[in-house]
Amino acid sequence: MQIVRSISETRTALRDLRVGRRTVGLVPTMGALHAGHVSLVRAARSQCDVVAATIFVNPTQFGPNEDFSKYPRTFEEDCRLLEQEGVDLLFAPGTDEMYPKGATTFVEVGEIGDRLDGVSRPGHFRGVATIVAKLFHIVGPDRAFFGQKDAAQVAVLRRMVRDLNFPLELVTCPTVREPDGLALSSRNRYLSPSERQIALALLRTLTEIEKRAAEGEVQSPVLIGVGLKVLAAEPGVRLDYLKIADADTLEDVRDIRNGALIAIAAWVGTTRLIDNILLGPRL
Ligand code: PAJ
Repeated sequence: MQIVRSISETRTALRDLRVGRRTVGLVPTMGALHAGHVSLVRAARSQCDVVAATIFVNPTQFGPNEDFSKYPRTFEEDCRLLEQEGVDLLFAPGTDEMYPKGATTFVEVGEIGDRLDGVSRPGHFRGVATIVAKLFHIVGPDRAFFGQKDAAQVAVLRRMVRDLNFPLELVTCPTVREPDGLALSSRNRYLSPSERQIALALLRTLTEIEKRAAEGEVQSPVLIGVGLKVLAAEPGVRLDYLKIADADTLEDVRDIRNGALIAIAAWVGTTRLIDNILLGPRL
């Protein structure tokens, strides 16, 4: 695996790797890699000739009171993992390389960026869209791989790809979970053992809603009520949002007949966690 730090080296390396119309898959990450990230690399490996991964903790997607400075950084381990998984090129730039002094141009995502996580993380999706657009320009992938775990991120980026005509396919991969159901996240390592147990309430909430939906309930307010009852029994969880929304627009839906995204975000101690499930349309 080639490890490169600069944009120009990345472009040169990819020009060589791409010869003979070989397809390029891109897996953007912020490092602190786990089996969720690995699943994206494996999907890219199986669908593309060349796999490029990126590690960059992107400052513009963190709010002033968020965990940018303490975000886990495990670069050596990450490199070993990516090498093992057959990644061809790792682009791991420094902040100055991605945001040279005086950089003022951003991707504005519009109202979709003010929904779900965008409510308590203003500007987050503007930062995500900007860095991902830059990575798309630098790497020029045929396919880019993202996790369903960050459902709102997927919706924002699909919209950006469409609106700005990026010539690539955005591939969404299923959420990878621990054996007990906890969605893997780089932030799980902040949790104490007791918080780790409490965190299971997020998936419990979603599965209880899914169960009631499978029994025939279609009204969103009723289903939200079912979820809130589960959460009320777990005082260690502080809810940010529990939403039943359209998976593409992230707007609330009144009923789930046409399918819906059920998404939750909550704090366990000082750690903010998210999870979601997709419900298919009723026939
Ligand atoms: P990061 O949180 O490192 O996640 C990188 C990718 O891994 C994202 O597409 C995310 O959805 C996916 N991922 C995380 N946990 C997962 C899980 N349990 N199962 C499946 N996929 C999972 O998301 C970001 O970084 C950043 O916002 C980024 C897109 C890199 C832009 O900075």
